Amino acid sequence: SGPVTAQLVASRVLDVPDFPKPGIVFKDLMPLFADGAAFREVIDDIVDHHGRDSFDVVVGIEARGFVVAAAIAYATGVGVVPVRKAGKLPRAAYAASYALEYGEATLEVHQDAFTAGHRVLVVDDVLATGGTAQATLDLVERAGGTVAGFSVLLELSFLNGRDRLAPRAVHALLTV
Ligand code: PRP
Repeated sequence: SGPVTAQLVASRVLDVPDFPKPGIVFKDLMPLFADGAAFREVIDDIVDHHGRDSFDVVVGIEARGFVVAAAIAYATGVGVVPVRKAGKLPRAAYAASYALEYGEATLEVHQDAFTAGHRVLVVDDVLATGGTAQATLDLVERAGGTVAGFSVLLELSFLNGRDRLAPRAVHALLTV
């Protein structure tokens, strides 16, 4: 349930000061991924929140979003589509650039990634400024998908990423 998974995330996130740049406190969720029981609990909670029949495919955002997306896909029997950093996808792709908390980046998705009208659940580990999520939601729609939901394990509310995605709903297992 919500309070249980929030506590699981809270107890398994490590703060890493000055990574990847001075002044940034990186939120490392690897300890959560490494704990099988906790990982299963958070995956099940995300699926329960949206409902397992509410999406046809799940998108994971490079790189830690891949871990979350693959688990949800396997648990629900849907497929997984990666949204990747620029230059990593082998075929024709749409690109979206965005400002990151620490720099700038471009994300891409294959142009043929989605069946028209397919409902897409987008997942990532952390929502910070929301630039990554905003670019991803834009890419999904450009590639013909319909965004059915968006979940993160951890939301950093002081960076106001949620506002950037409004009016779209953001589901976060833990907000700090
Ligand atoms: C981190 C995190 C999110 C993004 C959130 O990824 O996993 O994808 O930043 O930041 P934003 O809300 O400010 O856009 P990162 O860029 O570190 O990529 P990586 O997972 O490939 O290391």
